[in-house]
Amino acid sequence: MKSRCLSGDAILRFIKKKMAEDLTIPKEGSKIEIYESIYPQLKALTEDEPDLIANMANIASALKEALGYFWVGFYRVVGDQLVLGPFQGPVACTRITFGRGVCGTAWKEKRTILVPDVDIFPGHIACSSLSRSEIVIPLLKEGDVEAVLDVDSDDVDSFNEVDAHYLEKIASLLKF
Ligand code: SME
Repeated sequence: MKSRCLSGDAILRFIKKKMAEDLTIPKEGSKIEIYESIYPQLKALTEDEPDLIANMANIASALKEALGYFWVGFYRVVGDQLVLGPFQGPVACTRITFGRGVCGTAWKEKRTILVPDVDIFPGHIACSSLSRSEIVIPLLKEGDVEAVLDVDSDDVDSFNEVDAHYLEKIASLLKF
């Protein structure tokens, strides 16, 4: 009988493939515990994959599934606009202008924007009337914003510094 011997690389590829199929998401636990659980899994899933869109798609999916937010997705900078990228949730606005809405403001100001109540954010773009609070993280390469990560909740005041910290950390897994 022919014996099969797998190389170290092949074993690693097998483990990563299994992780992609079986992302482990704690059903209960604090927000910090959930982020702490999914971060290393997302790191393993994305670190050997060079395709930006594929990695954005898996990150959006994992965040939606793990944290249950209403809408999770990316907008990429294309010319002078943000263009909708991989997301999970209801259909959304396709293009956003520089400086407009929460996403355009995060792009312009190159900083994470936390909006506890979208009704009192001047210029908020209501892709869905159900969205009540929002956090947007800009993704930079050499000082330029390449994309933003946008997470929306259908409750007010859903995001805090914990989300900002972990979403920035998760977003930094993406290489441009
Ligand atoms: N509310 C965002 C627009 C994007 S959607 O929420 C998916 C904004 O004001 O930029």
